[in-house]
Amino acid sequence: MLQVRGVEAGYGTGTVLHGVTLDVPKGEVTAVVGRNGVGKSTTLKAILGLLPIQKGKVTLENNDLTGCNPHSIVRAGIGYVPEGRQIFPKLTVLENLRVGQRRRPKVWTEERILELFPNLRARTNNLGHALSGGEQQMLAIGRALVTDVKVLMLDEPTQGLAPNVVNQIGEVIKRLKEESVAVLLVEQNLNLTEDVADRVLVMSKGNVVETCGIREFREDGEAIRNRWLTI
Ligand SMILES: Nc1ncnc2c1ncn2[C@@H]1O[C@H](COP(=O)(O)OP(=O)(O)OP(=O)(O)O)[C@@H](O)[C@H]1O
Ligand SMILES: [Mg+2]
Repeated sequence: MLQVRGVEAGYGTGTVLHGVTLDVPKGEVTAVVGRNGVGKSTTLKAILGLLPIQKGKVTLENNDLTGCNPHSIVRAGIGYVPEGRQIFPKLTVLENLRVGQRRRPKVWTEERILELFPNLRARTNNLGHALSGGEQQMLAIGRALVTDVKVLMLDEPTQGLAPNVVNQIGEVIKRLKEESVAVLLVEQNLNLTEDVADRVLVMSKGNVVETCGIREFREDGEAIRNRWLTI
């Protein structure tokens, strides 16, 4: 579905990503883990066109998206939920879902999103700031879906959430996978990662340094953890 090949990108004249290559297949969850500052969020921003790609290529179903602006990349079917959610606090749940929506969604209609998030259905007229952290995260995911996403990129969706809410987010991610969405998940919570991911990519210093299937990660993850993840 989504292919990233040898991408170099960074901020200003600095380069943070030194040739990132990854695949995000349809109906799978591809998790990206790694220590702080290794370039996980930067990878998502480069894919979305928020940062210029200095070298390399990004394609979605063989359409070249390299160098396109974020707006057309979203329209092509890539959804993005940034770190910290960034919903609009003074808009209602429904307004948040509708903001930025250019045309009626064909796949992810409002009805379907509210079915996916029953908590939100009870709060459609509440303002964003009146929602709990978990509800805000669900709203942020819902807002990304209305663009009829093929690929959904989530940057640390469970950060700061209570364990039961983390589980709810996990269930939503599994459901999206069943609906054939390709999910690219940046996550520090390894329990959640093991629960929902199909493959785990480990990043270090602006590169993908390990790729392994989830079974391998569960069974032999110790060495990977010690080498790339513990501080
Ligand atoms: N807006 C920015 N301007 C300049 N440098 C930045 C900016 N954002 C991030 N960086 C730098 O880019 C590098 C990678 O940052 P990035 O946010 O991608 O890391 P990360 O893997 O997402 O880390 P974390 O786990 O803390 O979220 C870091 O060295 C960081 O200091
Ligand atoms: Mg980050």
